[in-house]
Amino acid sequence: MSGDVHLSGPFRPTLDEIDQPATVISGALPPELDGEYLRNGPNPRFTPVGSYLYPLEGDGMVHAVTLRDGTAHYRNRFVRTPMVQLEEQAGHVLWPGLMSGRTPTADEVGPELAGSFREMPDINIVRHSGRLMAMAEGTPPFCLGPDLATVKRETFDGALPVGMTAHPKIDPVTGEMVVFCYMLEAPFLTWSVIDRDGRVTRSDTPVPGVLRPVMIHDMALTEHSVVLVLSPLFFDVMAAMRGGSLLSWEPDEGTRVASVPRDGGAVKWAHGDTFWTWHMANAFHRTGPGGAPGTADSPIVVDMVQHNNPGMGLRSGPHTSAFVRTTIDPVAGSIEHEEIEAGRLEFPRIDDRLLGSAHRQVAMGHRTAAAPPVPGAFDAVRVFDTATGRASMWTAEDGLVGEPSFAPRPGASAPDDGWWLTIVADPAGVAHSRLVVLDAADIAAGPVATVQLPARVPLGLHGNWLPTQE
Ligand SMILES: [Fe+2]
Repeated sequence: MSGDVHLSGPFRPTLDEIDQPATVISGALPPELDGEYLRNGPNPRFTPVGSYLYPLEGDGMVHAVTLRDGTAHYRNRFVRTPMVQLEEQAGHVLWPGLMSGRTPTADEVGPELAGSFREMPDINIVRHSGRLMAMAEGTPPFCLGPDLATVKRETFDGALPVGMTAHPKIDPVTGEMVVFCYMLEAPFLTWSVIDRDGRVTRSDTPVPGVLRPVMIHDMALTEHSVVLVLSPLFFDVMAAMRGGSLLSWEPDEGTRVASVPRDGGAVKWAHGDTFWTWHMANAFHRTGPGGAPGTADSPIVVDMVQHNNPGMGLRSGPHTSAFVRTTIDPVAGSIEHEEIEAGRLEFPRIDDRLLGSAHRQVAMGHRTAAAPPVPGAFDAVRVFDTATGRASMWTAEDGLVGEPSFAPRPGASAPDDGWWLTIVADPAGVAHSRLVVLDAADIAAGPVATVQLPARVPLGLHGNWLPTQE
């Protein structure tokens, strides 16, 4: 699999684990930026065999850039799951790729892990209730220590044994972390709530009306509702056992959206034409007449990047994508779309202090015509002002950018007052990477600071700015 486009060039995995100062090479780091920018991404410890399904497969590697008093420090570590540890002992890969239709035997990995799928906490890195967690897609996260060493598989004292999405949503008002989990067997889809202290206050509550195993990557959260988009990407275990594809894209089925009241009320469904989404920027309820606060039954506005198919070799025809404002009416059951901009866009993010309520800026990666036409490769950060309809952009002329993460200006409460951070990678996958700090008020002006990292950071997936906690 070493020739796979997502294992070479800017995606080429790194085996180095280092802990070294980084150098500001242009501009100046805002002295009030005090915290860590962390980013996770697929980085196979050993060359995969059988298959390599980007963006899901791979071992996790977490990169951390600590910013303090205008200086920077970089370190990175593998997420060492039991699978990675066993493979390191063996000196080669033991788990074949997800789409290979094979799992390792007891002779290869021992009786306890025989027949298991690789755990892949390689998608996101999230801090909640004192836990720093490398997040996987539908299996439990792994807790990391402050030095990024892997501590344990996190099941919240056994309350969430099956796992959860890699895209939990943390309510900035209540501090709750809301998650969903899809699974191959009934009930196929559940949701759970973990309070700000890390106690599970709702565990694995089924979403009724889901009759087949379906893949869902992201979720949205409003003040009143969990929003789950069910596009027709189904798991087909029988086909996989016959040597076919584990995933089945069935565009004739349409896309459904579940509005799940956070108070445990009845789930409401909306139906519409087929679309696929990997990532949602945010969702909020529309206010009523006279600005009356929205309720669980109010229309839900969701800003997201939509695709006509999920890729991953499942496409049937040309691929299109766009940044779209979708309005879901939970009562009428309708879904309406307003295209904001078509283009190669992904990884939409907001100032997370606004999560669940109306936002203004949405930043994301954008692929211009100058960048290689590879899924997951973007050469620009594009910021949409949803109030004015205007977009601004910064292009990394000699590099490829990752997902932008927002760092609020300490002490400032105004929305979008702060910086967008992202790591810029060498398209050839040779030179060391850079962290760029873009002023959210004017990203087109270019970075206010560029930090040369002492390592090559492959293009990856999701990150977050974690301010230093008092
Ligand atoms: Fe994701």
